[in-house]
Amino acid sequence: MKRLAVFASGSGSNFEAIAEGCRRGDVDAEVVLCVCDKAGAYVLERAAKYGVETLVFNPKEFGSKREAESMIADRMDSLGVDLVCLAGYMRIVGEELLGRYGGRIINIHPALLPAFPGAHGIRDAFEYGVKVFGVTIHYVDETLDGGKIISQVAVPYEGDDMEELETMIHKAEHQLYVQTIQKLISSK
Ligand code: GAR
Repeated sequence: MKRLAVFASGSGSNFEAIAEGCRRGDVDAEVVLCVCDKAGAYVLERAAKYGVETLVFNPKEFGSKREAESMIADRMDSLGVDLVCLAGYMRIVGEELLGRYGGRIINIHPALLPAFPGAHGIRDAFEYGVKVFGVTIHYVDETLDGGKIISQVAVPYEGDDMEELETMIHKAEHQLYVQTIQKLISSK
């Protein structure tokens, strides 16, 4: 059984999709750690619901990104984490984590990369007027939403209701993340 760490900064609906996928047996893995850089984020309530250990940290309390990441990597080492899944973790991963977990860190983004990277992928694509939206899962490198693409799914939408679009994209994210993690785990 593989051991996952999920990093999130906000609501954590992708965290929950992954934890639920593991609980149902759709993913042959266990979420052993939820890493969160925002005290009070809703993802922490979801982690409690699934009995997942949490590591909450305030980046400002560390002298450098390296120090914070070193503490996180030490905790992951002690828990035997195999795969790190970023799920709405709104920070660029630095050298320390890439050095210790490189090739084992993946991220989900709510757009068809390389189009519309950044924190507002859905809104940016909507305002641009695209007609085919989507979701991307990729390996993480030192760039913003960069790194080799693992999987993508298109979400065609020609309406004018961004909330409706967001709901469709989040649903696609939850399915794609669970499927992709299972595929990665079973191919190793
Ligand atoms: C998700 O839509 C995820 O793709 C996005 O943050 C959201 C988190 O939602 N990530 C990025 O935009 C990365 N650039 P969640 O907290 O409900 O999972």
